[in-house]
Amino acid sequence: MRLIQLIHGPNLNRLGRREPGIYGHVTLEAINQRLQARAANAGMTLNCLQANSEGALIDAVHGAADRGAEFLIMNPGGYTHPSVALRDAVLAVNLPLVEVHLSNVHAREAFRRHSYFSDIAVGVICGLGDFGYDAALDFALARLSLSSPQASADSDVKS
Ligand code: DQA
Repeated sequence: MRLIQLIHGPNLNRLGRREPGIYGHVTLEAINQRLQARAANAGMTLNCLQANSEGALIDAVHGAADRGAEFLIMNPGGYTHPSVALRDAVLAVNLPLVEVHLSNVHAREAFRRHSYFSDIAVGVICGLGDFGYDAALDFALARLSLSSPQASADSDVKS
């Protein structure tokens, strides 16, 4: 089965309890289960991983490529704004990325407006709450259904 990798960055394991006025009441487990069911309905596999440390996230990006994932959906959390190393990991695997943020990062503190991922992503979704993950998954499913596994794996083009 064709594989999509969903990666959640630091503090997102506390979704549902973490600043619910900003990030909502839905837990990460509920989001992952919902998306995995939707991917399975479309005949694809969604692998979900959350980590709080930068190195573990870098390993997750590399591991996704090594396992043959064809698409990345990632909310880098707080590493969105400072992590050159995680950006380099995405560039190193040459997989198409959709960057997701639950909150509208442009309507918050100034430091959240810069992302090390937006210019290397196929697209960016922010401010739609947990629905943003569904939108990203819909896009990934549509994109993959239009390409053969081999064509996608061999492609040097992000978009
Ligand atoms: C976030 C936005 C980031 O600025 C923040 O550090 C997060 C979550 C979001 O989903 O809105 O941890 O990525």
